Amino acid sequence: MTRIINPIPAALLEALRSIGYTLDTALADIIDNSITAQASKISVRFLWDAGKPWIAVCDDGFGMSQDELVEAMRFGSKSPIENRDSDDLGRFGLGMKTASISQCRRMTVLSSDKGRISACEWNLNCLSKDDKAECGTQVLSEDDWRKDAVLRELSKEFFGKNKSGTIILWRDLDPGLGDPKEANGEQRFSAQMDIARKHLELVFHRFLSPSVGQKKIGVDFNDTPLEAFNPFGPSVPARQELPVEKIMVQGHAIVVQPYVLPHHSKAGSVAEYQKYAGDEGYLHNQGFYIYRNRRLIIKATWFRLIPKDELNKLIRIRVDIPNALDDMWRIDVKKSQANPPEIVRRELKRVINKISGAGRIVFTNRATRLQNRTITPVWAREVVDGQVKYLVNEAHPLLKALLKDMPDEQSDRLRACLELVNSTFPYDMYYADAADDKTEFAESAPGDETVRQVGLQLVKALRSCGFDGAELRKQLENAEFFKCSPEMLEEILSLEGSAQ
Ligand SMILES: Nc1ncnc2c1ncn2[C@@H]1O[C@H](COP(=O)(O)OP(=O)(O)OP(=O)(O)O)[C@@H](O)[C@H]1O
Ligand SMILES: [Mg+2]
Repeated sequence: MTRIINPIPAALLEALRSIGYTLDTALADIIDNSITAQASKISVRFLWDAGKPWIAVCDDGFGMSQDELVEAMRFGSKSPIENRDSDDLGRFGLGMKTASISQCRRMTVLSSDKGRISACEWNLNCLSKDDKAECGTQVLSEDDWRKDAVLRELSKEFFGKNKSGTIILWRDLDPGLGDPKEANGEQRFSAQMDIARKHLELVFHRFLSPSVGQKKIGVDFNDTPLEAFNPFGPSVPARQELPVEKIMVQGHAIVVQPYVLPHHSKAGSVAEYQKYAGDEGYLHNQGFYIYRNRRLIIKATWFRLIPKDELNKLIRIRVDIPNALDDMWRIDVKKSQANPPEIVRRELKRVINKISGAGRIVFTNRATRLQNRTITPVWAREVVDGQVKYLVNEAHPLLKALLKDMPDEQSDRLRACLELVNSTFPYDMYYADAADDKTEFAESAPGDETVRQVGLQLVKALRSCGFDGAELRKQLENAEFFKCSPEMLEEILSLEGSAQ
């Protein structure tokens, strides 16, 4: 005889509370539903309420009838195997429930279908301990929910006459969000709401600030609108947008758009550079940003295809995936994890190989520019067998002239000194400093007297190397160190001329 073994709802639900949502991922899952319900405005309301804090997400989407709402309250209301509309942000038929109970023990849904309001509630405090009786969910009558002051006020504010929409209210919040028994409970609550807000500004930035032709969705936290945070720095002038690539999988396109953010010397302002660094910094925030139907699921990862590297730290790659490929990407219930299938991994690796140089170019461009500015640099960069070396340049006029005029014994000593300097260049120390955004390198600004002295010696050296007239002046104007006013340049030339 077959014996049916039913799960014990109380135990199952308590366990489901811990599948790993945080306040921000839970709120994002609720907002997904509002977006799928074609809301234009989503208001997140929250109140400490004298130690009885609550959070509500209220939208003006198409709402639900009573039957639809009852079905929506069911865990697994829609199977992941069922086909969904291409713009549906849902997948598992779980989010509204699992996200809510991860943050609270009492979740009430009030939904208006063109003015007809229905209400249902999950209350984990009412779960029975066996698999038979009450299991914590109920339909609330109009009398019941109208007696409830919070629901009454919210419905008054958000459900105008004949208007549709949905309110998800969380009460009996998890003490981790702010424990009323603790002195700093309220501060903790508002600090966590601040963190959640930042997260949502990133996750939904393409809805908050859509591209041309796409619908804008307004989200606010207690009436303060969220501001889109686009991690690709759209307003930074020196940002590079590299060519788009399309990866076709089972007839569906995955669109890959790489960006290289500017080096801090070109980012416009320190504030602008810091803004896109994010709290974790550029090194951490490099990588792929995966969007499913324009909603960010996973950010700043290379999927272990390459390590996070200083020289790639300005590269961020936007990847748009359609929900038709959910299965292959193994999207998790919280919509915060995804793994590319092997065939996509290979293509992504190819894209990285092609562009990982681009991040390097931003850094090395700087070095190249510094070198090109001077006609004969003081420091020479040499690449021998793929190894980079920095050497004091013996071709620099001043050094060349000095070596030429010295007796052999002294020039040998000087060369030994230069060899010492060259072979002990502190590459590690320099690399660490150069990679750190906070390092400010001193721009050497010698005093007038030093410039005059070095200038005179340089002019003599250039003459002894055969420079004269306009050529001499050009060499001088472009020499490193020798950054002086045109008047000083004239003075040096005339001083040197009179000394001849
Ligand atoms: N704000 C809302 N407006 C209208 N309908 C909603 C809203 N929230 C939820 N629903 C309905 O409730 C159903 C269940 O939502 P739930 O989030 O639990 O699952 P899902 O969105 O289908 O999938 P997922 O688990 O991936 O989020 C939805 O499919 C939708 O029909
Ligand atoms: Mg959902």
